[in-house]
Amino acid sequence: MRIVNTILELRAAINAWRLAGQSVALVPTMGNLHAGHLQLVSIAKKKADRVVVSIFVNPTQFGAGEDFETYPRTEREDQEKLAAEHADLLFLPTVADIYSADAKTTITVTGLSDLYCGASRPGHFSGVATVVCKLFNSVQPDIAVFGLKDFQQLTVIKTMVRDLNIPVEIVGVDTIRESGGLAMSSRNGYLTDEEKSIAPQLYQALRDARDAILAGNPAYADIEQQALQFLQQAGFTPDYFSICRSTDLKKAATEDVDLVLLAAAKLGKTRLIDNIYFSLTAQPS
Ligand code: PAF
Repeated sequence: MRIVNTILELRAAINAWRLAGQSVALVPTMGNLHAGHLQLVSIAKKKADRVVVSIFVNPTQFGAGEDFETYPRTEREDQEKLAAEHADLLFLPTVADIYSADAKTTITVTGLSDLYCGASRPGHFSGVATVVCKLFNSVQPDIAVFGLKDFQQLTVIKTMVRDLNIPVEIVGVDTIRESGGLAMSSRNGYLTDEEKSIAPQLYQALRDARDAILAGNPAYADIEQQALQFLQQAGFTPDYFSICRSTDLKKAATEDVDLVLLAAAKLGKTRLIDNIYFSLTAQPS
């Protein structure tokens, strides 16, 4: 696996593949790779001739007082994991490679970026959209692969790609979970042992709400309230629990068929997010 730090080197490597008629997939990450990330790489490999993985802890998507400084940086281990997964190229830029000091342009997917995680983390999705657009411009991939755990992020990115006519296919990959059901996340490493035993109840709350909806309970606001209460009693400080339409993340009405339940809650200092999506026309797996 080749490792490059600058956009210039990145483009040269990709140009050579393009001249050989090869397709390119991009897996953008912030590193501290776990099985969920490696699954993205494995799917990218099946869909394209060449796989580029980027590791960049993007400062613009962290708010004041968030964990940008302490975000786990495990470059050496990440490189070993990606080499074992047969990624072709690792792009490891610095902040100065990505952002010019007097940058004046940002991307905001309006509306969507202010809801749910965007309401609690103002500016977060502009940071995500801007850096992902920059990565797309640098790599010009045929496809880009993201985890569905960050369902709102994926919806923001898909909307940006549609609105800006970016010629890339966006692929969403199912969440990989720990044996108890906790969605894998780089931030799980912040959890204490006691918090680790509580954390799977976030997914439990999502499954209970899904089951209530599938059983025909039409009182969505009550289901949301019960889930928030359940989380609070389990020891979380819930942020939101929302029954939404999976297409546009608007609040779901009972006639909507394709749903996603979005949840975020703090456990101690750690902010966890998760979701579950399903169709009322099909049974859940
Ligand atoms: O999901 C992430 O790891 C990040 O938000 C992303 C998409 C790599 C942008 O920095």
